[in-house]
Amino acid sequence: MRKKIVAGNWKMNTTFQEGIDLAIEINNLVVEKAHKDVIVVVAPPFTHISEVNKAVDNDRIFVAGQNCATENSGAFTGEISAEMLWSAGADFVILGHSERRSYYGETNEKLKIKVAKALEFNLTPIYCVGEVLEEREANKHFEVIKEQIEKVLFDLSEADFEKVVIAYEPVWAIGTGKTASPEQAQEIHKYIRTLLTAKFGDAAKKTSILYGGSCKPSNAKELFANADVDGGLIGGAALSANDFLAIINAF
Ligand code: 13P
Repeated sequence: MRKKIVAGNWKMNTTFQEGIDLAIEINNLVVEKAHKDVIVVVAPPFTHISEVNKAVDNDRIFVAGQNCATENSGAFTGEISAEMLWSAGADFVILGHSERRSYYGETNEKLKIKVAKALEFNLTPIYCVGEVLEEREANKHFEVIKEQIEKVLFDLSEADFEKVVIAYEPVWAIGTGKTASPEQAQEIHKYIRTLLTAKFGDAAKKTSILYGGSCKPSNAKELFANADVDGGLIGGAALSANDFLAIINAF
């Protein structure tokens, strides 16, 4: 069975105390009111992970990092390893977010290493793919996504592949208020599943593929209603506990 997942990517938002307060607010709403069959993940800034993890019900809310290093430890100033995330209580890690790809030079080659590191330290990677506007306008979006999937995931063993979650985030829809239409989302999600099925067979039927990009309470239901959309990776709307809950309950 494919899992339904709604993950909140807080990005570089909230001070430490604001983050803890938000986590407590989300936790109270989720424990009381969220659909039980949806896996809920929050990805606060690194500095908040340990305390957010303590503030939430660990059977109900999982904590994610927003990135991890390609190395395990050593002289890499400013980096955070997968093992550090795990030791602070994270169960997931977002990898390959378009903001990391475009502002911090993260290539498919680097991301392949990061996915392997996450798996080595028992973190579930939420691996992000997506095209920029020019690529979509040039009708290159399928090609771009194919490369992002093949170069990063295709050398995984089937057992490791089964642990990976994928997020399709069209870059033109992130933080812009412009959402992909449900048809556009389904088209790409189906395409991703077809690529994965060609490589990994039936295991790909169980892969959760999340949509991200201006997903909010008003459009989550129509996005999640699609056969290959298994949830969402939420940015702005995840900073409001009420909006986040409404998205979780949009299934
Ligand atoms: P928004 O929901 O703010 O568009 O951000 C999406 C995103 O980048 C989640 O990772």
